[in-house]
Amino acid sequence: MSKNARADLLPRPARDERVDGAALAGTVRFEPVFTAVTSTRLEQAAARALRACGRDRGAAALPLTVDCGAAGAAFPALDDDESYVLALDDRGVRITAAEEWGVLRGLATLTQLCSGSEPLPARRIVDAPRFPWRGLMLDVARHFLPLEDLLRTLDAMAIFKLNVLHLHLSDDQGFRFPSQRFPALPSARHYRLAELDTLVRSAADRGIRVVPELDVPGHTASWLAGYPEWGSGGQGSSRRFGVHRACLDPTRGAVRAAVATLFSEVAACFPDRYVHFGGDEVHPQAWSQDPQIAAYMARHGLADSAALQARFTAHVVSVLTDLERTPIGWDEVLHPDLPAGVAVQAWRGATARDRALRAGCDCVLSAPYYLDLYYPADVHAGFDPGAPEAELLAREDALLEDPRFAHVAAGMAWTRQWRDAPEPPAATAPGRLLGAEACLWSELVNSQVLDVRLWSRMPALADRFWSPVSADPGDLSDRLDLALARLPAWAGVDVAGDVARAVRAAGVEDGWLPLVKQLEPVKWYGRLLGEEALAARLRGREMPASRPYDADTPLDRVVDMLPPESPAARQLAATLRAAAPGDRVADAQLRELAASWRRLPARAGPEELAAPAAALADVGDAILALLDNGIDVAEARRRLEAAAVPFGEYLLAPLPALLAWLERGSGRG
Ligand code: ACM
Repeated sequence: MSKNARADLLPRPARDERVDGAALAGTVRFEPVFTAVTSTRLEQAAARALRACGRDRGAAALPLTVDCGAAGAAFPALDDDESYVLALDDRGVRITAAEEWGVLRGLATLTQLCSGSEPLPARRIVDAPRFPWRGLMLDVARHFLPLEDLLRTLDAMAIFKLNVLHLHLSDDQGFRFPSQRFPALPSARHYRLAELDTLVRSAADRGIRVVPELDVPGHTASWLAGYPEWGSGGQGSSRRFGVHRACLDPTRGAVRAAVATLFSEVAACFPDRYVHFGGDEVHPQAWSQDPQIAAYMARHGLADSAALQARFTAHVVSVLTDLERTPIGWDEVLHPDLPAGVAVQAWRGATARDRALRAGCDCVLSAPYYLDLYYPADVHAGFDPGAPEAELLAREDALLEDPRFAHVAAGMAWTRQWRDAPEPPAATAPGRLLGAEACLWSELVNSQVLDVRLWSRMPALADRFWSPVSADPGDLSDRLDLALARLPAWAGVDVAGDVARAVRAAGVEDGWLPLVKQLEPVKWYGRLLGEEALAARLRGREMPASRPYDADTPLDRVVDMLPPESPAARQLAATLRAAAPGDRVADAQLRELAASWRRLPARAGPEELAAPAAALADVGDAILALLDNGIDVAEARRRLEAAAVPFGEYLLAPLPALLAWLERGSGRG
């Protein structure tokens, strides 16, 4: 269908056609009618969908006919049939699906379609997902996220047809799984078994699988706080961030037995077929400096740490296989000794995906979808999970040239070393790309900032994970803005409201609101590493242990709450991109904005914003002077470039687009 007709849906459906028939009035109420299979799950989902779009009340009622071919199992599974057909005209809406899961997806479409009050032309949507695994990983270990946050997240996930919530339940800073057999493991803040049961059931009612992760053998400092005898290389629980040396000692029978018991507890709690066992970032010195472990390695002919990890991985895999689960691990688990049947989550650059597939492992791609890197939505959405490796690599390379990342390009280049990871032996049959998963690591994410960090960009990724490859994602930004405006009603997620409240609470007064709208946090790991550790990493040195943040740092500054992508700057960039040199409308808009920047007071909030405020005021002044022919382009460029740098942890987001506009010859009188 025309681009316009698709502009209201995110993700875009596979097929969307205007059909003969009269338009559906914009304000009618719907009454669900189940013609075939029904269930409490479907009745509740229909009621939720109609509430979310405000069509559960109003005048005349039309039927919402649900024609469901078969009830689903108690819990969803990979490869469930999620396809559906939605047809609407002036007589009502009909959703037809072979299974409950498809009805749920159709109801999400209905909610999005019917949230406005305009009449809807007669229409038929025939839809199915591109990938069966469309996930979101939340790190609930570094900062705990209470159940209510997870339940709200499920509601929003369902709206965007995401179907896997991966919970990273343990890490150095916290252990959130309520082990009954090892009561010294759970941190002060952990989930109760009943809460996890509620979560898993609520997720199932939304067609969402919950995949649990206990990360072993690294990232286990929190385990050693309770059971120091299980460890090697280190201290107990930790509040700091970064890769730790502490690690489980896999040479001890008691450790292997405890891990087996823990995974059986996890499997009893989470019904999903997949259980994640981590396996990432084992510190190279975790085991090599322990004489007992070295002796074990010699005895068993294990040449290095990777071989020892592979032996431990084989143990975990056999435990999970005995529990009738499919093990999944981060891409470090790829090793010549990896048993068959393990799925791999590729996070270290684009090459990890194909290395896993060639080794015969099914794969979930996460490398381009790290939401904690503060990238704009278009950057993540540009990476098609199914694109050829060369295209993914070219996109990774292109980011290094993108002016939005100039301040961290050297750090991003550091990750190119991952392209040279060892190649495991090729399997006779390649693995299958299951789909993709966004990851939100929570060093700088807590309950207060979760929705802003997550939903400011996640809908664009959901589009990538569900929709067919399209040559024209040009309307993504409009659809994202529309979705964010409606998310408070759909799922109680209010990104703009949360930002506004937090900015006020951080002491920003009215005079600086035009400034805050244009700010973004520095990108990549710039905030987390801080300047000293970033420089050390780039020089290849051991990084200093001191970092700007640890797990106890309050997240109450303006930078903690800024959306990673400023919507105002995104809109300005779009206007400037579309404007021909001398375009009067664009110039008038820019003039107005520049005048508001020039008026910024020297002080109307926290001290750390004084420098970016002064810089943006100067940018406003320079733009006005240029438009009035008071300065030449070279002078304007010099002044804009002076503002296109980090101010501590802040960036002035519109600068790259303004500099590009200048280069294109705009603004010349
Ligand atoms: C990871 O980001 N360490 C999987």
